[in-house]
Amino acid sequence: MLGIRRLDLYTDHDRPLLRDELSAFRQLMRRRGEGREPVAYLIGERGFRGLDLKVGPGVLIPRPDTEVLVEIGEAFAKTQEQVTFADVGTGSGCVALALATACPQALGLAIDRSPAALAIATHNVKETGLADRVTLVLGDLLGPCRPSSLDLVLSNPPYVLEAERALMTPEILDHEPQSALFDADGLPLTQRLVQQAFTALRSGGLLAIETGFDKAPLVESFFSEAGFVALRRESDLGDVERVVVGSRP
Ligand SMILES: C[S@@+](CC[C@H](N)C(=O)[O-])C[C@H]1O[C@@H](n2cnc3c(N)ncnc32)[C@H](O)[C@@H]1O
Repeated sequence: MLGIRRLDLYTDHDRPLLRDELSAFRQLMRRRGEGREPVAYLIGERGFRGLDLKVGPGVLIPRPDTEVLVEIGEAFAKTQEQVTFADVGTGSGCVALALATACPQALGLAIDRSPAALAIATHNVKETGLADRVTLVLGDLLGPCRPSSLDLVLSNPPYVLEAERALMTPEILDHEPQSALFDADGLPLTQRLVQQAFTALRSGGLLAIETGFDKAPLVESFFSEAGFVALRRESDLGDVERVVVGSRP
């Protein structure tokens, strides 16, 4: 808002705000206090694994919980000379861009069915300088991918149930896109994604899907029904089983 570096806040700490600066700040405070707008939307960015990503209404704000999904992808990618991956439901592009930043041999598609999310992801791909390795695609799940074309599929799909609405804060419910949050009872979207991933992955490929705090057993059952092997559940920084992982035999 002030267009200065964080360091300048300390060195110029006694500079009085100009009238316009004060009024812009008051407006932001009002939006935060009365409208409960998330801070990330107010300032227009959010940090994720060392990247400063643009966010705004229309895209989910990246969460620290999702870092474990990227770590699983990185650990797999580092065992391969080249990795072709898909990030399904890319939103801001956080997962695909963090993976591509950490793994120079990774090349992939970042897919979303929301044009609003892809508009923000386009900005982030450009700003991170990764346009030669991360291609954005408007599409439904892994529909844009050919059979046996991928080594790695990562996804943080919508997984909140209607019944869980009451547990959510106004910051989330009133501001973040519903299409990024909610799936129906039984998680049919995640189930369809697991089935598609079995076809899109090559033999030896890896699938990792983030899910809700109590949903890993259900998601793991989708993996085994689809034919994935070496199944495991990984916990997030809060020690919640957050990501289900499996290999394509
Ligand atoms: C929970 S958000 C995750 C965003 C981002 N990957 C992150 O971790 O912050 C889920 C994303 O999936 C997208 N999505 C929902 N249904 C989809 C579908 N059928 N195909 C592709 N993307 C979908 C939403 O638009 C949203 O951007």
